[in-house]
Amino acid sequence: MFDQVTQYNFPTVIRFGIGASKELPAYLKSNNLRKPLVVTDPMVYDLPFLKAILKDLETCGVSYETFSHVDKNPVKANILAGGDIFSCVKCDAIIGIGGGAAMDVARAIALRINNRRDLFEYDDLIGGDKFIDGEIPHLITIPTTSGTGSEVGRAAIISENDSKRKRILFHPTLLAKIVFADPGLTFDLPPNVTAATGMDALTHNMEAYISKGFHPMCDGIALEGIGLIADSLEGAVLNPNPENRSKMMLASLMGAVAFQKGLGIVHSLAHPLSTLLDVHHGLANAVMIAYGMAYNMSGSEDKFKQMARALKLKDISGNGVLDRLKGINERIGIPSKLSDLGVLPEHVDALSELALTDFCLPSNPKDASFDDLKSIYQKAILK
Ligand SMILES: [Fe+2]
Repeated sequence: MFDQVTQYNFPTVIRFGIGASKELPAYLKSNNLRKPLVVTDPMVYDLPFLKAILKDLETCGVSYETFSHVDKNPVKANILAGGDIFSCVKCDAIIGIGGGAAMDVARAIALRINNRRDLFEYDDLIGGDKFIDGEIPHLITIPTTSGTGSEVGRAAIISENDSKRKRILFHPTLLAKIVFADPGLTFDLPPNVTAATGMDALTHNMEAYISKGFHPMCDGIALEGIGLIADSLEGAVLNPNPENRSKMMLASLMGAVAFQKGLGIVHSLAHPLSTLLDVHHGLANAVMIAYGMAYNMSGSEDKFKQMARALKLKDISGNGVLDRLKGINERIGIPSKLSDLGVLPEHVDALSELALTDFCLPSNPKDASFDDLKSIYQKAILK
């Protein structure tokens, strides 16, 4: 493995801590950015903390424009509309504030401004990244959930308007120049959102750790992320306080930094549940994680032992890890079966077909056939 040259990238500046978002106006001014486009989703747009951030900008004399036409699963039309506003009012920076959807839209708008082919000609899966050569506006991200980690990502997942097929825009230049990670913005998240997004973060760390490839730096970050989540997720859902909210935000960032190494079968099983049945991404991962990890156990015994240690388990076997995952889910109110989400046996063939071509499957430590995927979905549906 040492006779191949590999590149490791950890370039994002992260300002982390309660109150970090208050540094935004001074940062804009010091970088001579005078007219940012604030991209957020309709729910966040109405929340008091967003009003406070906008008020801070006004107080500091920063003029801004807002864009909140962001779908739950963002579509191309969102990007084109946001890009038109940016150009029309001559913005000079983009600030994505929200969960994964808002930050992905902010990133895709940043791509769109000076790369004017049809948006999906830039799809990474068809080699479109090679066409991304236009300058990317200054991009700033401010997460308001602890889950997707999109704030430190270099990809945007955007769906086609009609078919809802997910496309991936990916390029190193799409990284935010700076992240303001302020756990204070998550203090009012409801328990069900904290639970689902937190399990997404746990899935990122675990899948990154066991994914194919040699990346000890990502492995170390992922194990530490797993430990932080073991310490804090249940508390963040059941008894939130600044410490467990802060640990979850850090672990979410760490999961997304680590998954530059790759993700795996849990995400491949989860993505079709969102595409076909509109299941929330984090919830889909939360329900599927124990099933996907059970599939991966044989052949990765040593890595499961390390994850068990990170989870601080007495039983450091793979089954110990599975029991812990099921226990966390039970305590934070995540259903144990897909049938609880309205998934029916007749959905399984279509789900398995999509999972088989999912972009996360190639980095899973074990190959999986259509029949393997079908069998996992069937186990997850049965009562
Ligand atoms: Fe995810």
